[in-house]
Amino acid sequence: MRDEPWRPCIHYTPARNWVNDPNGLVRLDGEYHLFCQYNPFGERWGHMSWGHAVGSDLVDWHELPVAIPEDERVSIYSGSVVVDHRNTSGFGAPGQVPLVAVYTGCLRRPEGGQAQELAYSVDRGRTWTKYAGNPVLDLGLRDFRDPKVFWHDESGRWVMVVVVPDARSARIYGSPDLKTWTLLSEFASPFEGEGIWECPDLIPFDLAGEGRIWMLKVDVFGGHPSGGTGARIFFGRFDGATFTPEAEAGPRWADQGADFYAALSFANLEPGDAPVWLAWMSCHRYAQDVPTAPWRGAMTLPRRLALRRVDGRIELLQQPVAALERLRGAVVEVAGAMIGGAGADLLPAEFDDAALEIELTIASTNATTCGVAIECGDSRVLVGYDRERGAVFVDRSASGWSPAGDELWGRRRHAACAAPTPARPLRLRLWIDRSSVEVFAGDGEAVLTELMFPPAGRRRLRLISAGGPTGFGPTLVWPLRPARID
Ligand code: FRU
Repeated sequence: MRDEPWRPCIHYTPARNWVNDPNGLVRLDGEYHLFCQYNPFGERWGHMSWGHAVGSDLVDWHELPVAIPEDERVSIYSGSVVVDHRNTSGFGAPGQVPLVAVYTGCLRRPEGGQAQELAYSVDRGRTWTKYAGNPVLDLGLRDFRDPKVFWHDESGRWVMVVVVPDARSARIYGSPDLKTWTLLSEFASPFEGEGIWECPDLIPFDLAGEGRIWMLKVDVFGGHPSGGTGARIFFGRFDGATFTPEAEAGPRWADQGADFYAALSFANLEPGDAPVWLAWMSCHRYAQDVPTAPWRGAMTLPRRLALRRVDGRIELLQQPVAALERLRGAVVEVAGAMIGGAGADLLPAEFDDAALEIELTIASTNATTCGVAIECGDSRVLVGYDRERGAVFVDRSASGWSPAGDELWGRRRHAACAAPTPARPLRLRLWIDRSSVEVFAGDGEAVLTELMFPPAGRRRLRLISAGGPTGFGPTLVWPLRPARID
């Protein structure tokens, strides 16, 4: 087992080297493929190529050799993979179903230049051939990237959503064969003065009683409430050519934590399956400095997605995939109790530093803040409910390592959620790994993902209630066995 300090137990990391965005997430013949932005030569960003891992359940992963390497002409930036069932590309011999990767080729010359390119595989993603006719979509721009492609049944063609980052605009193209692309529409940011756009995704959902609703996700390089980067979401209709958003009061974010970026949904899931996505669990502001070796960067847990409408407003619900339950060891259950003042040890026992899943319930509270403290040595991370703000929060200000000179790292992060009441207690689900915490409140409508780098050692959990009493329901803690990631 890979066992260096801070090496995640239940999150995908490569054995060595730098990793950022997930790319080309796709399921084929019962196998999930996780491609990623990868530097085969070092622990910092550079020489972008597609790394590769496969697995059968979204929990265990087996790393394979680099799938699509940088060459003399281009680096291989982010993109997606489709299963070309009809062999529209002609990349498969008759009767063969090719996998086609659509990615951004970034020219390796000082002035750069980005265009969309193809590579294909006819051996279950093991080997890839770059298309001789690359690039397939070139506007002559310096920045034009991150194509997400899917088959749109109603219009019988491929659809690509891709961004012009500094215009903060998503362009939608159509194609019969993945090789020739026609502009269908453009969707520009309604918000002024924020960071560039990257990594779009356009995901269909069936919303009870309303039919098909689409979610457009783009990553924004600045302007997220964490002070850094994040995943902006819009809900609306998509007719095969144009995305029309519902009117919204303000920006919406998929995750209020600092470390959720470049999320991508899996292609080719079973018909009727809910969408599943995962993201890069870091932030470009400090990603190159995090103190891990000989790798740098990790993926979030894979999350199953759903929508619901509450008081006229659509909510995105996220929950880690149920397959993770397989990792649960014997549950430790603590009875509900009223806690006030300084807080109490949740448990007489301590936990070792592997991963933990915690479910806690706040039935009612008069505290200013209440929740759980995760302590190790003199490090402490707080996760809980802030009554004044009506929000769940993560506070990693005393978590241990922090990037030099970065004031935003330790700022408390909030995600609005409904207040706990005895009739509707607030449920918090936490997945804690050696260097991260992911928090899902309620039914997954409020989510926070944050890195932390505590000292090595055993962990102590405490329920906290500051400034008044809190009624906690039963708390469940599952020590998690490490996933098999090799
Ligand atoms: C997002 C991103 C993408 C780009 C890739 C390069 O993290 O900047 O826009 O394709 O990373 O590694």
